[in-house]
Amino acid sequence: MTESTDAPLDRRQFLISSVAALLALRQSNGQVSASRSVEENGTIALDPERPQFHLLPAKNWMNDPNGPIYFDGHYHLFFQYNPEAPVWGNMSWNHAISTDMLHWTHLPVAMTPTPGGPDEFGVFSGSTFKVGRRVYAVYTATRKSTPEHATIKDGGPPIQESQCLAWSDDKDLRTWHKQSSPIVATPPTEMKITGFRDPSIWKQGNTYYMTVGSGVAKEGGCVLLYRSNDLNRWEYLHKLVEGKWNGKPTPNPCDDGEMWECPDFFALDGKHVLIYSTLGKVFWQSGMFDDAKLKFTPEKTGVLDLGAFYAPKTNVDKNGRRILWGWIPERRSEDAMRKAGWSGMMSLPRVMTLDREGMLQLSILPETKTLRSASIPKTSGKDGSRLLLTACNGELLCAGLAKEFFSLTIGFVSNEILVVQYLPDRQAMLIDETEFPLRAGDSPSVHAFVDASVIELVLMGRVGYTKRFYCNQTQAPDLAVRIVGKGTRVEAWAISPISHNRLTTPAVT
Ligand code: FRU
Repeated sequence: MTESTDAPLDRRQFLISSVAALLALRQSNGQVSASRSVEENGTIALDPERPQFHLLPAKNWMNDPNGPIYFDGHYHLFFQYNPEAPVWGNMSWNHAISTDMLHWTHLPVAMTPTPGGPDEFGVFSGSTFKVGRRVYAVYTATRKSTPEHATIKDGGPPIQESQCLAWSDDKDLRTWHKQSSPIVATPPTEMKITGFRDPSIWKQGNTYYMTVGSGVAKEGGCVLLYRSNDLNRWEYLHKLVEGKWNGKPTPNPCDDGEMWECPDFFALDGKHVLIYSTLGKVFWQSGMFDDAKLKFTPEKTGVLDLGAFYAPKTNVDKNGRRILWGWIPERRSEDAMRKAGWSGMMSLPRVMTLDREGMLQLSILPETKTLRSASIPKTSGKDGSRLLLTACNGELLCAGLAKEFFSLTIGFVSNEILVVQYLPDRQAMLIDETEFPLRAGDSPSVHAFVDASVIELVLMGRVGYTKRFYCNQTQAPDLAVRIVGKGTRVEAWAISPISHNRLTTPAVT
């Protein structure tokens, strides 16, 4: 019943097997599509494993956040989406808007692959940026190719990636016009690259800069830097920054550190920060950006989230805060996703800051407290507290003392889902099996959100831990919470759903 140990599935394998499985389904029972039927007969809306206050589409597969932006009074969040099935494929940009980053309205899918175009295989991840009243999207277009032109070589069909531009001039960013040919058609020829995707653009003076996630075979992941005066003609400059291959070859270069996906590079609290995804995790680096040499020198580094969290992107909110969004993937089999009719969700918004030493600080958007409903009662003894989270829902705030052992356990009645311990002798937190070192004087603190099949934690205000669990029941059970430790402080609340059903919001057409 706890987190499944199924290995994360290769998304391109999903594509191949999804077509076969859908055809088989149609032949066997005449249904048009497995996912549509489950939504229509209400099983998605009633699914107790479907989150109630996390953003996710009404059905089908989603992955990376794309191009989050605050524009004309609304937050726009685009994300990788398969309009056809609850497994990866037909990559498109889906679109949701919000005024508070918590309640969402789904808008029509913003961009889908164009037959015969450079993105006919998929509109992959990218970013948005505003120039006057126009919002541009820069994204990776993918098409099937020949082995010599392929930039994705991971054992699947050879795929060629190029960087493309689209724009929207309407107030709600509903209509997107794609430029027909890529702005950067091929990667730098002199490099043996392992991938070429997930661009973002910023403007400095009169010059545009673009970063693209990449890597060099047997050397390591990197971020490529380009420059342009007009958004159309781009000059490759050099690697903005590079990392190291872990030396253990895998078919997919993202799994051994040879390829960095979804880089995001921005100024924060007097320094620059880079986030990127590789080795199944998201890393951050903070340091100095030399804007004459156009090189980034990382000084501090760490992991953003120790669990199920990938390919994040950031935007600046209307108050100037740096907001982080991540894809929370499933940890269950392809069959289970097909049965459910949906897959993946967006993390809650997290605010990023740097402390004086350039170390990352994270917190769940403080306005999330507007979703609190009743406060949850607890029973307290001298060694700690206990409480129940009704129907897999709630928020917990726990803080312990610097010199005292502390532990938090969340579980079903019969077995544990998650255990977080503070080990004062080792000056470390033990999060399930992962040890996270603390700094002198740190006292333990945990902020947790439980929502149907996900627990999103922020520990010490410094690192995330996102955990999936599946109750496999027709109704969401209550979860037992036990906190052990002298002098611990605990508060808990039930959290209101963000829509009347579990479809997040009804689609607006
Ligand atoms: C990260 C990623 C990106 C790519 C997208 C495709 O999860 O692999 O690199 O653009 O997903 O869906």
